[in-house]
Amino acid sequence: MKILGIDTSCDETAASVVANGREVLSNVVASQIEVHQEYGGVVPELASRKHIEAINYIVSRALAEADVTFKDLTAIAVTNRPGLIGALLVGVASAKSLAYCHKLPLLGINHIEGHIYANYMVHDALTFPHICLTVSGGHTLLVEVHEGWQYKVLGSTQDDAAGEVYDKVAKYLGLGFPGGKIIDDLAQTGDPTAIKFPRPMRNSGDYQFSFSGIKTSVRYFVEKARRAGVLVENGQEDAKDTNPDTITVEDIAASFQAAVVDVLTYKSIRAAKSTGAKAITLTGGVAANSQLRSSLKTAGVEIGAEVYYPPMNLCTDNGAMIAGIAYEKYKQGLRDNLSLNAAANGSIMERK
Ligand code: KG4
Ligand code: ZN
Repeated sequence: MKILGIDTSCDETAASVVANGREVLSNVVASQIEVHQEYGGVVPELASRKHIEAINYIVSRALAEADVTFKDLTAIAVTNRPGLIGALLVGVASAKSLAYCHKLPLLGINHIEGHIYANYMVHDALTFPHICLTVSGGHTLLVEVHEGWQYKVLGSTQDDAAGEVYDKVAKYLGLGFPGGKIIDDLAQTGDPTAIKFPRPMRNSGDYQFSFSGIKTSVRYFVEKARRAGVLVENGQEDAKDTNPDTITVEDIAASFQAAVVDVLTYKSIRAAKSTGAKAITLTGGVAANSQLRSSLKTAGVEIGAEVYYPPMNLCTDNGAMIAGIAYEKYKQGLRDNLSLNAAANGSIMERK
């Protein structure tokens, strides 16, 4: 059963054809990073316009690369929530038109369910129930995933998403957008114990997260260090030899990352321990983070839980994960009609 999956929820125009939920026949993504880079973040109106320009081409590429036509498809799936409303509307309008023209069933999919499904597409040994940590530019969510793709949401961020905070911190440090990979790379040579940034809600006793406090703390620290003239921003590793008070961008990156990774790891492990889940999956753009991966792996070994993360092209936004979860939903009987609409918000617990 081949399904076309479309995702235009943020700044990537993505389409993919997947057979039987797991066999990725094509996975085409047009990134808009260059468009948004000069603004230091995603500009919703620009994102919508770029999706309109790209969508038809990306869908036809996805079909061509999979070597299929609409006649070979069983259904068309599209992310219809949550995300940037104007961006989502482009994918939804496209999917509805195609479903109508080609007389194919239509399925509206929750973007986060796609992220959660990504690990299952590549890890045959993944067992249920498992704990899934979704960390991206727009979301931070800890979920218990049961057989049949039934979920129990354990916690989410009360303010900023983890990826959003990476992007903001990179902005304060003048490092460019998106900041996650840049900070991750700089942190490799920094001292994670150089500055003790706060770990908000680490010991709250629940599974909620809060990252805006870390963000503000880094911002004040950077401003103060700049004013005092002790911030080394040009990679001068020997600066400390001449002035022990200097602080490098690498140290700030490493210390910031240590705070974020500590909280994410701690709560994910706690969730696995208390639910007895024997597997933890990591997904979303921030799942690419080297420190988060290794920290969770190490902590997972200590409690006997296997830790999984998907390859990069399934971590970040893509249409394959949408086609993947749509296969399960199709089997469960889900169908939408042409009144399907986009929604900026939407919990994975709700049908729509
Ligand atoms: O899942 P994604 O592609 O889009 C959203 O749905 O948001 O995630 C993008 C986010 C950005 O905030 C980016 O900075 C972050 O993922 N990211 C990383 C890394 N690579 C990407 N964050 C930390 N470390 C990385 N290596
Ligand atoms: Zn995403």
